[in-house]
Amino acid sequence: MAESLTISSVLKRIKEQLEQAKLRNPQLEAEMIVSEALGISRPEIYLELDKTIPGSALKKIRAWVKARSERKPFAYIIRKAWFREIELEVNNSVLIPRPETELLTEQALRIIRSEATIEKILDLGTGSGAIILSLAFELKNFARNLKFFASDISKPALEMAKKNARKLGLSKKITFCKGDLFQPFSRHKFHLIVCNPPYIPQAQLRSLMPEIKRYEPEIALNGGVDGLELIQKIINQAPRHLYPDAWLLMEIGLNQAKRLKKYLGAEMALKEVVKDYNRVDRIAIFQKRQEQGFARILT
Ligand SMILES: C[S@@+](CC[C@H](N)C(=O)[O-])C[C@H]1O[C@@H](n2cnc3c(N)ncnc32)[C@H](O)[C@@H]1O
Repeated sequence: MAESLTISSVLKRIKEQLEQAKLRNPQLEAEMIVSEALGISRPEIYLELDKTIPGSALKKIRAWVKARSERKPFAYIIRKAWFREIELEVNNSVLIPRPETELLTEQALRIIRSEATIEKILDLGTGSGAIILSLAFELKNFARNLKFFASDISKPALEMAKKNARKLGLSKKITFCKGDLFQPFSRHKFHLIVCNPPYIPQAQLRSLMPEIKRYEPEIALNGGVDGLELIQKIINQAPRHLYPDAWLLMEIGLNQAKRLKKYLGAEMALKEVVKDYNRVDRIAIFQKRQEQGFARILT
């Protein structure tokens, strides 16, 4: 790439290389690489097509194009991902947060804002911290005194979530715990639990895109034989960690919504399933029923 130093010619070369690597959107990705390397927005690239790219940026571009041609996700290459209103650091010990999970967070925000009794909030399997950090960030000036908790079974994931909390100035607002599902919270109850569990059926992991299967952590993806192993455990264990009338919001996979009801005990109700941008059932919203004895007195 040494001979072609303008933005225009470099863009063209990157696009050709990414086409050869069979990437789906070589033009868009070429623009993303150049804009990130130069620290300008994608539209700004087109105002400066004849500008010469400095050597330091070219060096970055070469390394990034090589990594991208090897199908390393761009977020891992630049160690950054954007989620709702925040920027997160990511590496290959955490899942790259997805747009569907922004919807899960939006549903959690809607319920937290409208239910006056909600105080204690848990993000189970926090990964990069995307969900809990967005909640704490977007509810920074909220009048109610909210307490945020986040956990993960993966130590490196939890370290990344803590680092992101520090970068966003949110460390003091969130308690991070390491452990398997509810194990760190044996005596704790919450008013809202939000969770994006691993939900891909094990046999499908092999057919995922190289970006996912080669680079993203299997522990964040593998939902066991039918994809529902953790989901079932969470539905079974959650009632012990929810106050009466409290909420459990969970992201789910393709065709999983209809199978949720069979896991429900008497204490939990499936209130709603929200579709994502592709009209796929994606967010399951459960509510714990009133304590049985109490409910009987009321009715
Ligand atoms: C699909 S990722 C979600 C990450 C993040 N919440 C997000 O939405 O981007 C699932 C997360 O659950 C964690 N996890 C997997 N099994 C777990 C378990 N048994 N207990 C706690 N966390 C678990 C993984 O390490 C991973 O960070």
